[in-house]
Amino acid sequence: MSKIVIAIDGYSSCGKSTTAKAVAARMGYGYIDTGAMYRAVSLFFTQEHVALSNPREVVSALENIHITFNFNQRTGRNETCLNGLNVEEEIRKMYISNIVSEVSAIPEVRRAMVAQQKKMGRRRGVVMDGRDIGTKVFPDAEVKVFMTADTYIRARRRQRELLEKGELVNLEDIIKNIEKRDLIDTTRAESPLVQAPDATLLDTSHMTIEEQVDWVIQQADQRIAEL
Ligand code: DC
Repeated sequence: MSKIVIAIDGYSSCGKSTTAKAVAARMGYGYIDTGAMYRAVSLFFTQEHVALSNPREVVSALENIHITFNFNQRTGRNETCLNGLNVEEEIRKMYISNIVSEVSAIPEVRRAMVAQQKKMGRRRGVVMDGRDIGTKVFPDAEVKVFMTADTYIRARRRQRELLEKGELVNLEDIIKNIEKRDLIDTTRAESPLVQAPDATLLDTSHMTIEEQVDWVIQQADQRIAEL
C-alpha cells in the first residue's frame, strides 16, 4: 500500500500534536513534531547565550545542534533529544514558549530545520505537525490539514497541559503568550503560518481528540484509495 505524507499545520494548542501522534500510531507511520525542533533550538540558544540578532553567532550555534527523536518504550512517547540529551520536559516550559516564536522566525534557523525535516520524511509514511509543513517542508503532501480553534479554548487546553506537568500558569498570561505567538507566527517574513490553498480547514473548538483523529484518518484513507 502506498505510504503518504500527512501534514498538519495550524495554531498552537489546537490539538495538532496529540492528533498527529495518534494518527501516526494508528497508521503505523512515523511522527515528527517540528515545533519540538524549534523548541530544542531555543533551549540551546538560551543555554549558550546566543545573540539572536547576530546571524554569524546563530549559524555557528546551529552547527552544534543535533536533534533526534527517541521512542521511549516505558512512556510510549517519542522524546526530543538535543545533542543526545533528553530535553522533552524542558522544552515544554513557559520560558521556552516565550522565546520560541522569535527563534523560529530567524531565516537561518528555519533553513536548517526545514532541510532536516525534508530528510526525515523523504521515505514518506510520516505524520508531521507544525506551521509550514504543507506550504514549505512538504508542499506535495498527499493530505494537508490546517487546524484552528477559539483562543480561549486553546488557552484552557494549554493551561491543563502545563498543570499536568506541575506548572501553574494563570490564564491571562497564557492568552497573552498565545496571541503574541500567533501574531509573530502569522506575520514573520520567512514562511509565515498560512493555510496552504489545498489544505482542509479543521476547527477543533468543539471536537474531541478522537473525533479529530478519525477525521484525519478518513482523509488519509480516501487519499490512499485514490493513488
Ligand atoms: O507547535 P509548538 O507550539 O510546539 O511550536 C513552537 C513554536 O515553533 C511556534 O510558536 C512556532 C514555531 N514553529 C514554526 O515556526 N514552524 C514549525 N514548523 C513548527 C513550529
